[in-house]
Parts: sequence; C-alpha cells; structure tokens
Amino acid sequence: MAQPREQWASRFGFIMAAVGSAVGLGNMWRFSYLTAENGGAAFVVLYLLMTAFIGLPVMLAELTVGRGARRSPIGALQHFGGERWRLLGALFVAAGFLILAYYSVIAGWTVRYALIGLIDGFGGDAGERFAAIATGPRAVLWHLLFMGATVGVVMGGVRGGIERVALVLMPLLFVILVGLAVYAATLPGAAAGYRYYLEFELAGIWDMDVLAEAAGQAFFSLSLGMGAMLTFASYLPRESHLPNESLVVAGADFGVAFVSGLVVFPVLFALGLQEQVGDSTVGALFITLPTAFAEMGAAGRVVGAFFFTALVVGALTSAISLLEVVVSSLIDGLGWERHHAAFLIGVTIALLGIPAALDTDVLSAMDTLAGQFFLMLGGLGLALFVGWRMADPEGEVRAGAEGVRWFFLWRWLLRLVVPGFLLFVLWSMRESLAAAVTGLAGGGLE
Ligand code: PHE
Repeated sequence: MAQPREQWASRFGFIMAAVGSAVGLGNMWRFSYLTAENGGAAFVVLYLLMTAFIGLPVMLAELTVGRGARRSPIGALQHFGGERWRLLGALFVAAGFLILAYYSVIAGWTVRYALIGLIDGFGGDAGERFAAIATGPRAVLWHLLFMGATVGVVMGGVRGGIERVALVLMPLLFVILVGLAVYAATLPGAAAGYRYYLEFELAGIWDMDVLAEAAGQAFFSLSLGMGAMLTFASYLPRESHLPNESLVVAGADFGVAFVSGLVVFPVLFALGLQEQVGDSTVGALFITLPTAFAEMGAAGRVVGAFFFTALVVGALTSAISLLEVVVSSLIDGLGWERHHAAFLIGVTIALLGIPAALDTDVLSAMDTLAGQFFLMLGGLGLALFVGWRMADPEGEVRAGAEGVRWFFLWRWLLRLVVPGFLLFVLWSMRESLAAAVTGLAGGGLE
C-alpha cells in the first residue's frame, strides 16, 4: 500500500525549493515598503533580530518535526504528540488553503504586469490600469491560470516537479534581481533612494505595532507557521544538517528582500516619485513602480518586465509549497494518488480565490486572517509542541548535526521567548483580526 516516501535528489535541490517557498511576494511586495515606512535601517535591524530569535527557532522546529516524522503536518504532529495534536496540523492545512487562494490572485496580477511590460510598456494611467487588473473577470482568469501552473508543477512530484522547477527558477530570480540592483545603482536617484531606504531612525520602530508587523513579516516571508517547511523537510534524508539548512534558507530570504529594496528605491527616487508611495503596499508595487518604469522609456520596459518576471517566479515557487502542504496531507492521510489530490485541491482553492479576485477587501481580509493570524497561531502551537511536548527534539536535530552546541538555547527560545512574544503579537492583532472576520462573515461581496 504505502509507497516509499519521495525524497529530494540533492541537498541543493531542497535548498532551492525551500528558498523558493520563502522568497515570494512577501519579499518584494512588503519588506522594502515596511522598511521605508518604519525607520529604515532600524527596521532592518529589528527584522534581523526577529528572524534570529523568533523565526529561526521555529524554522528549525518545523524542519525537525518534518524530517523526524517523514510525514506531512497532520501525521507528523500525531507521530510525535498523539491524536490531539492533529488539530494543529489541521490548522496548518487550513492556512495553506486560504493563503494560496488569495496569494494566487496577486500572483495573477504579477503575471499580467510582466506581460504588459514585455508587450507594450507601462504607459497610460497607472491607477486605472491597476483597478482594471486587480478585480473582475480578468483577475479571475489570471488567478485560474496561475493556479493551473501551480497544480501542474505539484503533480510532477517532489523531484520531477517541485525540485526541478526550483532548480531552474530560483537561480534565474537571483540573476535578475542582482542585475536589476546593479542597474539601479547607476540611476541618478540611487544615493537618495538608498538614504531613504536605509536611514537609521530609531523612532520609527519605537512602536508596538511596528514590532508586531516585523514579526508578522518574518513569519510570512520565511513561510513559517503552516507546515510548508515541515512538509519539505519530510522529504529530507536523515543525515541532513538542519541548523545549517535553516540558516541558509533564512539568509537567502533576507538577502532577496534586502536587495529588492536596493532596486525599488533608486528607481522611485530617480523619477521623483517617492512622495507617491502612498499608504498601501499594493499601491507602491503595482501603481507607483510601473509609473516609474513608464517614465524610464525603453529601458523601463525591459527593467519592468524583468522585475515583474522575478515576482512571478517568486510567487510560483511559494505557491507550489503552499499547495504541497495540502496535497501531501491527502496523500499521507487518505492514501490519495498525487495527481488526483493536486487536481482536486487545486480546483477547490481556485474557487475559493474567486471572491478575492472580485473584491480586494476580501483579499486583504483573507490576508489578515490566514496570512497573519493563522501563521502566528500556528507558530505558537508549534513552538509549544517542540518546546514542551516532543520528547527529544534535540536528539532529532542531532542526527546529521552532531557538533552543534546551542541546543539548550533553542529549546528555551521555543519554550518561553517565542510563545511569549507571539502571544503578545496575537493580542495586538485582535482589532484588525476582528475587522477581517466580520468583513468576511458579513459577505464582503456586496
Ligand atoms: N514566504 C512566501 C512569501 O514571502 C509566502 C508563503 C507563506 C509561502 C507561507 C508559503 C507559506 O511570499
């Protein structure tokens, strides 16, 4: 009955897939924006601290549980914790469902933008164009197409689909991004852009909301709290060095986020558009930036097409990991065949995303609920699980990482620091969460 579990063909393949999961819309869509709005370099430092003390311990926890159990989230938590912990696994799967539903809608926009850049440039009114692309039948269509591509890859399996695609696409993304950053450095506004992006303003982070935002961004960006890393780790061989893998993935994720900012701000400043960044992340990415590309003439078309192509790549590899969490749960839990599971779940998620493609308020409510709240809640659950419930997590990690010394620190971070901090963040989210839930329940589709 049970087939042998699939495995990555190489360590590099796993790293590319995991980095592919982490690097996505979150990096290019939110990180630079949050940084510029909240204290520049001070926010970067805060974000790094958050990654080190909250993100990394949870990442290692996910990898440990996944590789140790060699099962997808629900089964893995049951394996180490018993029946009741399946509930946490179910929360992960629900998060994967909901996040992919709206994530794919935004990804559909990025495909449109990449094509527009390529075919006829970003001329015309940027605000009007965004309004036309973001909602309505066209948005639904591109969301469905993007979901189709995601399903196609996941159908191919771990090696033949996910790993193969990541091995090609991730290096492509790095090359594009570095190329764009080098080009951006030559623009007349580069120095001013860097200054705006990275000026150290302690006052900017002196705020509870900023702290919570930084934590939320770290979780979302590292794909934590919903079992994506756990699932990918379940295809790892026993001898892999999990602490190193965590560091590489988190480092690459931060690197991409940081370099994206080095592209975005020089471009905006070269064209004097910095005042128009506005107060929405989506606006910055899909309205102001294309305006800048349009004003740069022919070069802007090329740069814009490359920039949005990088976004499409990041979005696709992230979407794959979201879908894989749900698919692998059905394969492991119910013995489904991969093709059927991927197809059926893909269709369900595609349908679930349609309301988000018709109304951006629904989309952002889903983001608050699943992309923020569920991830934090899931991270809290996982930290408590590995911190208190699992019998010997240190022993699990030590397979493949014998020499590592700081385990006691890891366990205590999971026991006290991470839960304490996440509770605080969850608490501080209560109002925006309540608004999102009422919005969704009240049929945000009026
Ligand atoms: N990390 C992805 C991004 O930054 C989003 C994501 C979240 C992917 C959770 C998988 C799981 O865009």
